[in-house]
Amino acid sequence: MRISIIGQGYVGLTISVFAGESHEVVGFDVNPSIVERLNKGISHIEGVDSLAIAKLIAKGKYKATTNPAEIKGSEIMVIAVPTPLNSERKPDLSYIDSACKVIGENLDAPALIINESTSYPGTIRNYIKPATEKYSKVKLDHEYAISPERVDPGRVEWNQKNTPRLFAGLTPEATKRTKEFYSTFCDNLVEVSSPEVAEAAKLFENTFRQVNIALVNELAQISHALGIDVRETLEAANTKPYGFMKFTPSAGVGGHCIPVDPSYLAHLASEHGVRATFIERANEVNLEMPQYIAQRVASDNGGSLKGKKVLVVGVAYKPNVADTRETPAEHLIEALNEMGAVVSWSDEVVRSWKGESSGALGGADIAIVVTKHDVVEIAAILKAAPYVFDTTGKVIGAVQL
Ligand SMILES: NC(=O)c1ccc[n+]([C@@H]2O[C@H](COP(=O)([O-])OP(=O)(O)OC[C@H]3O[C@@H](n4cnc5c(N)ncnc54)[C@H](O)[C@@H]3O)[C@@H](O)[C@H]2O)c1
Repeated sequence: MRISIIGQGYVGLTISVFAGESHEVVGFDVNPSIVERLNKGISHIEGVDSLAIAKLIAKGKYKATTNPAEIKGSEIMVIAVPTPLNSERKPDLSYIDSACKVIGENLDAPALIINESTSYPGTIRNYIKPATEKYSKVKLDHEYAISPERVDPGRVEWNQKNTPRLFAGLTPEATKRTKEFYSTFCDNLVEVSSPEVAEAAKLFENTFRQVNIALVNELAQISHALGIDVRETLEAANTKPYGFMKFTPSAGVGGHCIPVDPSYLAHLASEHGVRATFIERANEVNLEMPQYIAQRVASDNGGSLKGKKVLVVGVAYKPNVADTRETPAEHLIEALNEMGAVVSWSDEVVRSWKGESSGALGGADIAIVVTKHDVVEIAAILKAAPYVFDTTGKVIGAVQL
């Protein structure tokens, strides 16, 4: 089949490479530099091998493009564009809208349109279908389905092939064709009774993590006040063989999913007159962690950070990826700057961030570890400053969160 995938980021490129094994894939993206590099066989995503892209290009199975007209003739369209929050922390569906415009204006035959972007229940039925129809030059009876993406960048043991995939169409025909498509590269397909169930399940998976991360971050604060080692407490609780799942404290949450997706659910809940109190409180706790850490470090260092050279170690939102979206390191740096510290950062994986290059791992009065990549030696972190505060639990010998 000819498949077009709108958006060639973490999700879209990953799907392109798997789908390219059995289909002819057109990867459409609005970013010309990404497209140019992809067509040279260069991946910009960890976990997507450049060689795999180059092989597909050589076989004529993959092509990236910025030209919307190249999606013509596609039997299946997959939407994999960002779904962020706007400045009021409300869902921003503008990228979805522009994807619908590309599809509506360029498809000249009925297709199956599948959304993989994360959004609130009702998005495929009440937003994507009407928007695509609005932009269509001719009336076409497209089919619509949802299959929320569960990819976890950097995780190797779970991938597109073995991670169970939820799906549902707006019609039985859409459901059937969606199943046929994903079964060409995914071993475990889970059909649910409506697109809304699949959309809600995706949001709840990430809300479950957001709330539990906040709970454990709150426990870290309580434990410190009580003089109890939070990580030992969690290990102890984790010996219970049932009814407990271990989460660990951190500088907060980052990435495209955990800080964002729960707010999509909260938004829809509030539109239906229900207040999502757990989500609101979890957001507060996680967003306050950088401030809490800055204050703890200050109180360990004579009560003030004014003029102190503070090095933030690891600015990616999680280990072994170069992704800095929504990273708690950003809020930590803001909090440290407000306290008068002279702040620098070092990250061997990110290397360049907000127009700055990664600084040296050393020469500081204080080092705060936000993310510990495997390539960074613990001994090197401990040598970076006379006082090292670790939010990850991995830098044994440092002061622990
Ligand atoms: N990254 C993850 O771990 C992950 C996991 C599961 C679900 N998701 C969801 O998948 C969706 C995509 O996330 P991502 O991480 O791949 O984002 P990304 O930022 O890595 O990639 C999105 C790509 O879409 C492109 N784009 C933006 N507007 C476009 C348009 N109108 N037409 C074509 N291309 C366009 C961008 O240039 C970019 O390359 C989001 O809804 C996200 O929440 C992400």
